[in-house]
Parts: sequence; C-alpha cells; structure tokens
Amino acid sequence: MTSKIAVIGAGYVGLTTGACFSHLGHDVICADIVPEKVERLSKGDVPIHEAGLTELVVEGIESGRLSFMLGAKNAVAEADFVYLCVPTPQSADGSADLSYLQDAAAEISAHLKAGAVVVNKSTVPVGSTRLVEQAMKRSDIPVVSNPEFLREGTAVADFLNPDRVVIGSDDQAAAGRVAALYLGVRAPIMVTDPASAETCKYAANAFLATKLSFTNAIAAVCEAVGADVNDVLLGMGYDHRIGHEFLRPGPGWGGSCFPKDSRAIISIAEDHGYDFALMRGVVTVNDEQFDRIVRKVGSVTQLEGATIAMLGLAFKAGTDDTRESPALAVASRLVAAGATVQGYDPAVTSVDMDGLEVVADAYAACEGANALVIATEWDDFKWLDLDKIADSMAEKHIVDARNLLDRGAVRRRGFSYQGVGRS
Ligand code: UGA
Repeated sequence: MTSKIAVIGAGYVGLTTGACFSHLGHDVICADIVPEKVERLSKGDVPIHEAGLTELVVEGIESGRLSFMLGAKNAVAEADFVYLCVPTPQSADGSADLSYLQDAAAEISAHLKAGAVVVNKSTVPVGSTRLVEQAMKRSDIPVVSNPEFLREGTAVADFLNPDRVVIGSDDQAAAGRVAALYLGVRAPIMVTDPASAETCKYAANAFLATKLSFTNAIAAVCEAVGADVNDVLLGMGYDHRIGHEFLRPGPGWGGSCFPKDSRAIISIAEDHGYDFALMRGVVTVNDEQFDRIVRKVGSVTQLEGATIAMLGLAFKAGTDDTRESPALAVASRLVAAGATVQGYDPAVTSVDMDGLEVVADAYAACEGANALVIATEWDDFKWLDLDKIADSMAEKHIVDARNLLDRGAVRRRGFSYQGVGRS
C-alpha cells in the first residue's frame, strides 16, 4: 500500500530514508532548511558520496514519487507519516543536543493532519520520543521510534536489506502502521517500547565500538608478544559466537556516529546513576590508538620538521566524510609534534587544518616525505606504484595503519614497514 511520507532533514539518514521509501513505492517529500540543498536535490544533484543514492533520487524524481521542499511545515500537510531525521550533535558535556528535534516537532505540530504518525529516526537519548510528544502538544498524534542502523557508504543497501527493523511505541496500531511501510523489505521487524528502541540504537553502536577497541587492544598485545593479529582474529572469528565482521584493526574508530554515541551512552548512564566504566575504557583505548600510530611514525623519523605523507583522510573508505576521522586525529597529533602532513584521499578535496595540505594524488603526497601513513582503507592504495613512491620519498618508511599493503612487496623495495598488530 502506498503511503504519503514527509521526511524532515535531508542529511545522509533523511535522504537515504526518503529515496529508499520512494523506491519501495511510497510518495515522499523531503524537507530541509538549506535552500541550495533543496534546489540541488530537486535536480537530482546529490551533495553526499553515498553508493546508489543518486540513482534512487533520480528514479524517485522521474517517477514523481520523490520531491524536495524548503521548510518542514510545508512538507507535512498531506503526510500519513512524518520521519524526523534531523541532526542530534554532541553538546559540550557529551550529551546529545536535541534542539533541532524539538524545534522540528514544534514547527510541524499545527500542520499535521489527523491520523498522522510522527516517527523519530534521529539518534536520540532514551526518553526523547516523549520529548517529541511534549514539543508537539498533540495528544492525537502518536510518536514512534524507528532508529536507523545505516552505515555511511552502504546506507542504501543497509536500508533496503537491513539485518532488522526496530520500532518502538506504546501505541500498537501506530507501530503496526510504521511496520507496514517496510513491506517491500525482507527483514525481521520487532516492535518494542520507545525506551528499548532508543537504547537498542546506542547499545548496538557502543557494542560495535567495543569490538573495535578490543580488536585494537589485541593488536597491541600481538605486537608485544610477536603474534600476527590477522591470524589471531581469523582464528577468533571462526567461532560463530564471535564472527569475522568488524574485527579489522586500524588507526582507531571515528565518524559521525561512534564517537558521539559512545560519549552519549556514557552520559545517559551517568545521568541515571550508572558508571559505564567499560565504555569509558573503550573510548580511552581508541584515543590511545591514535597516539600509538603517531609513536610508530616517530619511531622511524624525527617528527619535528618532518614531512609526512598521509593516504586517506575520510573516516573510512567509501565516503568523503572526515568528521571525527581517525586519519585527522593522527594528522593533528603529527602536526602538534612539529610535522607537516601532505594528505590525499580519493573522495576528500579539502580539510581545514593548519599543517595539513590536501594534494591532488597519492604520488604528490609522497613527494619528499620522510614517512608514509596509510590511514584509510581505500582499495586504490593497494595498487600504487611502489617503485615510483620509493624514488620520490626523502626516507623510505611506511606505517600501514590499516594493514592494507602487501608488506613483502613493500619491504622488497627497501621500505621499513610497520602495520598494526603484526611485524
Ligand atoms: C556506524 C554503524 O556501523 C551503523 O550501524 C550505524 O547505523 C551508524 O554508525 C550510525 O549510527 O548512523 P558508520 O559510522 O557509517 O556506521 O561507520 P562504520 O562502518 O561502522 O565504521 C566506523 C569506524 O570504525 C570507521 O572509522 C571504520 O574505519 C572503523 N572500523 C570499522 C574499523 O576500524 N574496523 C572495522 O573492522 C570496522
């Protein structure tokens, strides 16, 4: 059955949600507050790097099922469902700033038709479904939590082929109507109360971040005892209770979600009287991981006055997003130690950091460098001409923070090579 859906906020969650729902056959209006964004999107020009999203946006526009509009209140008048997909940035104290969410709820309230359901997809602290209800002051409109589990770079695939859909509501009928929007998707759909749905989102991200900090900590142990982390993790992952996914060691984890959500769950727990010491440890291990990578570089070259090539600036491959990027966390530490960083990323054209210059290609980044750091796991970096790089660098040192390169091939060219968790 076709429903009319308004999506408030055309960021990567809102835009993916809107485009995918229109692909599933619903009529969707996406609203945003930035006029240029709305104008570009209306022409099928997608401002973010997200596999398959442009195709779905163009498909939606051409079929007449997807349109874009400036301002939330104009978009909701006819809507059966209103998805709130606005940002919930981190405040100074680590908690989530809910002002965008409350403002959006207050703005749309008077314009909603009777029988509409408001759905919250923004990542919000437990209890926020209630806050949205309070901001709307409409006892006739149910508010449902439907957290997103989309990864940047594969958001479209994750939406259309999810591991699960979680719906939180005290209103069973409203929950059932939201569940029906996903009829074209094959996945377990679970309905629970709002607090459990909201907690599920934080708990999932916190657990994944824990898995990664554990992986990086095991990598440190492997370095200390002379084991190879790749083999250790492979051996662990065969245990079905552990699994192979999300066990890649790296320079630390980052992005717009894990750092924010990890701090938020610590703050939520604290507000309710629980000291989430485990999670504090997970964050500390991650900060230490950035320092560990910097120490590896400092062990092969004097950082003061050095030129360091950095391949990869995005927080992971497949995206142009540099928010809380581990690459930049490492770069800023190198700059603080007196080095200049020449960075290259296939998807990133500029970064605002003194001491870091973004250059046009990988070879330009290596020119005259005292060491090379592989910071993001782009496939392109596997196929670089190592001889050309060796000829252009001032000193031949590689710190491969993603264990991406063929270390034998690297060493054969006379480079010193350090990976993460293996010699
Ligand atoms: C993450 C979650 O994976 C999604 O399920 C969730 O919906 C999303 O946050 C969100 O809350 O919106 P995302 O931030 O796109 O998705 O990134 P991930 O793919 O999870 O990667 C996070 C970080 O961990 C990156 O820096 C990545 O390089 C690192 N990572 C990931 C590793 O170092 N090793 C791995 O094995 C996997």
